[in-house]
Amino acid sequence: MIAQEPSAKNRPEFINVRVRRQDGPGQKPYWELHKIKYEPEMNVISVLQRIAAQAKNTDGRAVSPVAWDCGCLEEVCGSCTMVINGRVRQSCSALVDRLLADHADEIVLEPMSKFPVVRDLMVDRERLFRGLERVKAWVPVDSYYNLGPGERIPREEQERNYPLSQCMSCGCCVEACPQYNKIEDTQKPNESEAEFEARKDADFDEAFVGPHAISQAMLFNNHPTGKTLAADRLEALSGAGGIATCGNAQNCVAVCPKEIPLTTSIARAGRATTLHAIKKWFDK
Ligand code: SF4
Ligand code: SF4
Ligand code: FES
Repeated sequence: MIAQEPSAKNRPEFINVRVRRQDGPGQKPYWELHKIKYEPEMNVISVLQRIAAQAKNTDGRAVSPVAWDCGCLEEVCGSCTMVINGRVRQSCSALVDRLLADHADEIVLEPMSKFPVVRDLMVDRERLFRGLERVKAWVPVDSYYNLGPGERIPREEQERNYPLSQCMSCGCCVEACPQYNKIEDTQKPNESEAEFEARKDADFDEAFVGPHAISQAMLFNNHPTGKTLAADRLEALSGAGGIATCGNAQNCVAVCPKEIPLTTSIARAGRATTLHAIKKWFDK
């Protein structure tokens, strides 16, 4: 049965919102209940704005505003990603009327579990971007003077590349991936900022790179200029935390809000890394 959005007659007067809060990195999380007045056509960001404006919980106790991240407010930047009623998604495109149709009682908001919490619903996605650095997910610029028109990309290749280019580094795929486990390093006493950053990068580089990065490696390996770094990308995917770590559970593809064919990218990366290994063996 398809859940119905609240009609004018059965709209609730108030909405209960349960938020998993955390006052800072490494602190103990706790649940906090809020009650806000229902308004039609709200999204989860507007719910959080109402909570901030009220500045008190359901017991009437004054509380600090819940922290969250957002940017574009139109499901493009990926920064507002959180777990809403148990499902990872963007809070700007999570419409309250639809959420209430599925869970009439309350809306439950939690931060993503695979990244360190900065505060409340705001997480540190640094590892996600480190994954993109590991696979050199960019087109190298080899000069700043006019090189003339670039190579033409056939339509079939454009159609293959376009869906992959929509990745917004939101983190939904890694949140759902059983092979991507949280890494939370803390700075040691007497460790400089540079030493701490280097240790974090080393830890990230040992662990699974993630489906988003595998898919971006396939996107840039299929670009006329991007493919000049193809061997480096395949080398990165062949090492520790690379393609072999993927258990093919396919959770990632099921949650990607941009419907990126991640398992197709993973299969392509598997074939490409095998060919890369054979080529390296013959080149010895
Ligand atoms: S592949 Fe999809 S789920 Fe993963 S980061 Fe990109 S847009 Fe988000
Ligand atoms: S297919 Fe691989 S990357 Fe995707 S969820 Fe499964 S283990 Fe993770
Ligand atoms: S604010 Fe950019 S995706 Fe939600």
